This record gives sequence, C-alpha cells and structure tokens, in this order.
Amino acid sequence: ESAEKEGYEHFMIKEIHEQPKGVSETLLRRLDTDENIVLDGIKLTKEDLENINKVYIVACGTAYHAGLVGRYAIEKFAKIPVEVDVASEFRYRDPFVDDKTLFIAVSQSGETLDTLAALREAKRKGARILSIVNVVGSSVARESDDVFYTWAGPEIAVASTKAYTTQLVAMYLVALHMSSVKGTLTKDQYDGIIKELKTMPEKVKNILDNHTRIQHLADGQFNNESVFFMGRGLDVHVAHEGSLKLKEISYINSFAIAAGELKHGTIALIEDGTLVVALATQDRLYDKMLSNIQEVRARGAFVVGVAKEGNKEIEKTADVVLYVPDTMDELTPILSVIPLQLLAYYIAVARGCDVDKPKNLAKSVTVE
Ligand code: G6P
Repeated sequence: ESAEKEGYEHFMIKEIHEQPKGVSETLLRRLDTDENIVLDGIKLTKEDLENINKVYIVACGTAYHAGLVGRYAIEKFAKIPVEVDVASEFRYRDPFVDDKTLFIAVSQSGETLDTLAALREAKRKGARILSIVNVVGSSVARESDDVFYTWAGPEIAVASTKAYTTQLVAMYLVALHMSSVKGTLTKDQYDGIIKELKTMPEKVKNILDNHTRIQHLADGQFNNESVFFMGRGLDVHVAHEGSLKLKEISYINSFAIAAGELKHGTIALIEDGTLVVALATQDRLYDKMLSNIQEVRARGAFVVGVAKEGNKEIEKTADVVLYVPDTMDELTPILSVIPLQLLAYYIAVARGCDVDKPKNLAKSVTVE
C-alpha cells in the first residue's frame, strides 16, 4: 500500500495532487486539433437535442455537487432547463420524466445503488440516459445509452477529490457540446471558454504548489467544533462540497449555506471565534459577499475568504484570504474547491483522523 501512495502520507493527498493530470486528461481526450469537442460514441446530434426539452442530473454525495455546477453550465451555455436531484429522492418522487428528457447520472464508482435505481426509473419512463462515470464498465456505465468517462484514474480515498474536478470538466464539455450543436453561444464565446478550460490544469497546480499556507491555517483552526461555509451563485455549490469534505474526514460539524440566507437563521449561531469559510469568487456577487463577511465578522467570526487573485478588497474584511488564479466566473469551481480540499485534509490530519477511511463511510454505497 505504501508503494501505491508514491511517497504521500495518504491516498487523499496523493489524489488531490493528481488533479492537474486528471483535469487535463478528461479535457484533452475530448478535444480535437481544431478544439471541437469530440464525444465519440455519444449521440447528442442536433436532432436528438431538438427532441430534448429538459435535462435531469441525478447523483449522490460529491457527484451531486458536481451536478449542481452542471445545471448552471447547461442552462447558461446550452439554454436547456435542468433539474438536479439526489438519487435517493428522485427515485421516490415520481418525477416528470418522459422521452423528451435527457437523464444524466453522475457517479465516480458507477455502482451507487440509489443512482443506479434512479437511472432505471428514468429509463422506464422513456428518458435518454447519459452517464458521467469514472470506473470503466461499471453498472451505471453498462446501463446507460451513452457514457462520458472521466479520466481521474482510480480513486481510493473515501473522500472524493479528483473525481469531482474531472466530473466538473465533463459537465462543462457536455454543456459546451450542446451549445455548439444548438448554436446558443457565439464562436468567440465558445472559443474563449475552451481556451480558459485549457489553462485549468496549470492553475490547479499553482494552488497546490502553495499548499503550505493552508497547512499552517489548518494547524491553527483544527480545534473548531463547527464550521460554516457560505457563498453566492456557483460558490454555494462549492461551499457545499467543501463542507462535505470537512465533515467526512474530520468529524467537525460543518454545513454550507447560500450567504443571502444568513440572516434567516444561521447568523444566530455565529459567536466569538466561529470559523466561517466565505467564497467570494463571483465578480457579479463580490460586493454582496463582502457585506455578508462583515455581518459575521461583526459577531466575532474568524473568516477565511476565498477569492480570485487581484480582488484584494476582501483583505479589509476577512481575517485570512486564500487566493485562486483569476478565471471566468463560470469556471471557478474547478479552482476554488482545491483550497477547501486541502483545508479539510490538513484539519483532519491535525486532529489525528483516519483520513482515507473515515468511520461509518464507504467508498461506494451499494445498499439503500
Ligand atoms: C459515497 C462516497 C462519496 C461519493 C458518493 C457517491 O458516499 O463516500 O465520496 O461522492 O458515495 O459515489 P459515486 O461513486 O456514485 O460517485
């Protein structure tokens, strides 16, 4: 096992560091020399897409969080309405699904029972099934009409990291492919997003290279009993993923909220020293986030801000700022999740937790 860890202390930190490669592989294997998206074997022609009036993205855990970003990308780039649901809810909801629905299952293992059952339910109702899966030949992959494989490589740590960032890339590519078939983006917009996507591996690497700052931060913050994550827009989805990572491996009671909901309850829990992780990567919502940070700071919170390089205003309100390289708002989740993965990892290590095999959790949940 230690050979497989290639010098890293845990599989989780090894897998965190494998993300530039996973993101790059997932992306480049689907782009031809003219930067067109090649979805070999995936049938989503103009005719197919004309027949689709709705997309349902269904998954569990971290894959569900990738689906939430997927909804944003598909609605924004391809202008198709999308619903996202956790598989265990979808399957008992009697959802509006018919032969005009594209059902997208997202799963690292391809063996999660609820996701598989939801897929079967959607199929029974006539939906087209596309899955985004990491494990080749898994049950979800075998039962789908089309499969988009992520190239994360084997993920061993229970807490998912590289599967998530590669799922994000897959979601962006599916959304961009749909947009190019439907003509919903101009060529300049499309080219701009692809160009920016290609910078992601380097930008992820840049964050990883600076991990010691996050390690120091974790060493000072590992004793917290509860941690709140907040953000607006796409940042809310990343806040949920960061919170899940932290609770899974450190057993700290953490949860995430849309920052605009702060006043509707959570602010009552903020007291002296409460750790709040505030994501503020969305340009359009930056000022609103700064106000939310002020609100929790005024009640004594210790705020760790996450922002894009160059947006320095946040330094006036947050106690510590973790910067990610600048990019377009739509693509920030690939970057902003990295400091949160590292923070969760180093906090769990500082607490002496069994990072790769957290208690009560399984890598793949094949029971209901
Ligand atoms: C378990 C794992 C999570 C994972 C979820 C969904 O809870 O611990 O890391 O996100 O299952 O798994 P899947 O294989 O379907 O992505």
